[in-house]
Amino acid sequence: MKPFDVYPLMNVNIQNSLGSYVWDEKGRKYLDFYGGHAVISIGHSHPHFLERIKKQLDKIAFYSNSVQNSLREELAEKLGKLSGYPDYHLFLVNSGTEAIENAIKLASFKNGRTKVVSFQKGFHGRTSAAVHITDNDKISAKINKGFERFLLPWNDLEAASNIISQNDICAVVIEGVQGIGGVHVPTPEFLQHLEKLCKKNNTIFILDEIQSGYGRTAKFFAHQYANIQADLITVAKGMGNGFPIGGVLISPEFEAGHGLLGTTFGGTHLACSAGLAVVEVIEKEGLLENAGLRGEQIKKALKQFPEISELRGLGCMIGVEMPFPIRAFRKLLIEKFGVFTGSSSQANTLRILPPITVSETEVTEFISAFGECLSAFKKQPEYEPFFITK
Ligand SMILES: Cc1ncc(COP(=O)(O)O)c(C=O)c1O
Repeated sequence: MKPFDVYPLMNVNIQNSLGSYVWDEKGRKYLDFYGGHAVISIGHSHPHFLERIKKQLDKIAFYSNSVQNSLREELAEKLGKLSGYPDYHLFLVNSGTEAIENAIKLASFKNGRTKVVSFQKGFHGRTSAAVHITDNDKISAKINKGFERFLLPWNDLEAASNIISQNDICAVVIEGVQGIGGVHVPTPEFLQHLEKLCKKNNTIFILDEIQSGYGRTAKFFAHQYANIQADLITVAKGMGNGFPIGGVLISPEFEAGHGLLGTTFGGTHLACSAGLAVVEVIEKEGLLENAGLRGEQIKKALKQFPEISELRGLGCMIGVEMPFPIRAFRKLLIEKFGVFTGSSSQANTLRILPPITVSETEVTEFISAFGECLSAFKKQPEYEPFFITK
């Protein structure tokens, strides 16, 4: 048997990791400013993360959700406090898309409606409801198109008012910062407007913080820049620093009922230990502050390159707009300069997503590799057709 070939693969075989670095099988070191799709939050192989998981593994890895699990209580308690949502409840799952699926389901249980509003260029996952509200028809099969959804333009107050005021929308789903779409930050006014519209029209307000949450933007959740509260918040990626865990933070307005939601693997002993290690490290090491400082350092340093037409984002979630498609540039950055960065659905946007533990020296190293790569890229004749200097 062979793996089902759905992923375009880079020619790198990662074998080892520590902090902001990974190593391939030949021992070549790479600076990781991507974290495997924004997953690595507290750095690869963080000692506290490893210790928590190893100790738990020696006791018990899994028992089902039919028994008491004090680790699950502890994770909910610590996450509630750290995220500023202490009175919310936590439902644990295994991935981002599963978190979205359950959030939409909860919304529909609550108000009995079926129409969903989401936003152009957004990404929410690949399972049935999540993929249907994702702005990419190529990844949505006929069977996924089971309810009416409206993909609205980003930051467009009027378009949102027109649809949500019809008073029959089940839920609005929005990313705290649009990630895969090219790192687009919603204006605080837009989020405040959506919050008000949702309240007025009995619509559930769902914040997808799967990529932008867990301190990545220097607040625990990106939507906290707008001083708003969501009814449901979805989390995954940075929550487990590579261990598969996701969750939905649920407002106390929602009534739980036995059997309403469920999953075999959500919130296992091992997953909760990984999740606990992450919140403990974020708190103990003051990582929200570090994400802010390092994000500013990256942006300030990148401003020296006149080729960059725009820098977007918050904290350690940065979109770099280049005047050419970044595909070949990103490849060169990995292959020649040993630096991982991310792409996005916008051809000219590079996504910078270092772990929020990243140090000042590592940022300097990144900037110098970026500059050298840009000089090398400009000299390569095959890249010239793309290149337009300002
Ligand atoms: C904002 C957002 N939501 C949801 C998802 C889906 O998460 P997963 O791949 O864990 O299902 C992603 C994944 O990239 C994401 O970026």
